[in-house]
Amino acid sequence: MSFTVPEPCVSRLNRCELAVPGSSPHMFEKAAKSDADAIFLDLEDAVAPNDKEQARKNIIEALNDIDWGDKVMSVRINGLDTHYMYRDIVDVVEKSGERLDLIMIPKVGTASDVYAIDMLVTQIEAATGRKKKIGFEHIIETALGMQNIHEIAAASKRNESLHFGVADYAASTKARTTSIGGPNPLYGVLTDPAEDESRDFHWGDMWHYAIARMVVAARANGLRPIDGPFGDFSDPDGYIAHGNRAAILGCEGKWAIHPKQIPLANDIFTPAEKEVAKARRILEAMEKAQAEGAGAVALDGRLIDIASIKQAEALVNQADIIAA
Ligand code: GLV
Ligand code: MG
Repeated sequence: MSFTVPEPCVSRLNRCELAVPGSSPHMFEKAAKSDADAIFLDLEDAVAPNDKEQARKNIIEALNDIDWGDKVMSVRINGLDTHYMYRDIVDVVEKSGERLDLIMIPKVGTASDVYAIDMLVTQIEAATGRKKKIGFEHIIETALGMQNIHEIAAASKRNESLHFGVADYAASTKARTTSIGGPNPLYGVLTDPAEDESRDFHWGDMWHYAIARMVVAARANGLRPIDGPFGDFSDPDGYIAHGNRAAILGCEGKWAIHPKQIPLANDIFTPAEKEVAKARRILEAMEKAQAEGAGAVALDGRLIDIASIKQAEALVNQADIIAA
């Protein structure tokens, strides 16, 4: 182990993060009663310029008046390149009371972006005597943000999660997409004719690099990596496939842009009972091995070692948080 140990951020369940436009208050009550772990009320891209001011008012009222239960509540502010941003922060943080948990920062590009918002939020918290410190979630969705992802992840003690914003990322990198977060049939490889005469075509995951890089930056800084939107809400199989590959790479959750996607995300990011039972058996076997002075041990014909314990502990931990 390095002498540097990443400090984990505040622990929160983040399996499904539901996006709700601030300009659609009729959706708020239903969202509050949904099974999403987290909700972000949007002031950014789901809200038309003429509706921004009213959306801000709707969100402030909703955070004060609606019973959101134990959901993690976030507000996605407008980008730092817009004049909406300062008032989003000032009004929302000053007037939303303690129910606001997080601010979601879209299109974050540099560590200085995070610093600027941290300064503003810190001043408002001090001036209003807010008791609970607001956390930050950052959407990595530009080439600049991806270039500076490690500095962004380390830029503030308020940081809690990094999110992959595939739609804007595609626009920023000029990637050729066919649907938000989905695959492109042209992104693939043909098998080698020397080995396979029929030359099968294998679709590839064009977002693999971006998600894997985000997972590394998040984990190296004690943050949660979260996969962003999957636009085709009429394609549950596509959502499940994309959510699974993000989960397998280390993501803790995925956005839902439609209520239909909530149970899918919860299912993908809840460890299966079978996996949890196996993890508990690994922990028991290792405990026994350690008591007997052994460093590694076999279970069901496979080697388990110290790294296996850490994986098993993480799984059991997550299962316990979900069950609590
Ligand atoms: C999310 O904001 C995205 O651009 O995908
Ligand atoms: Mg975006």
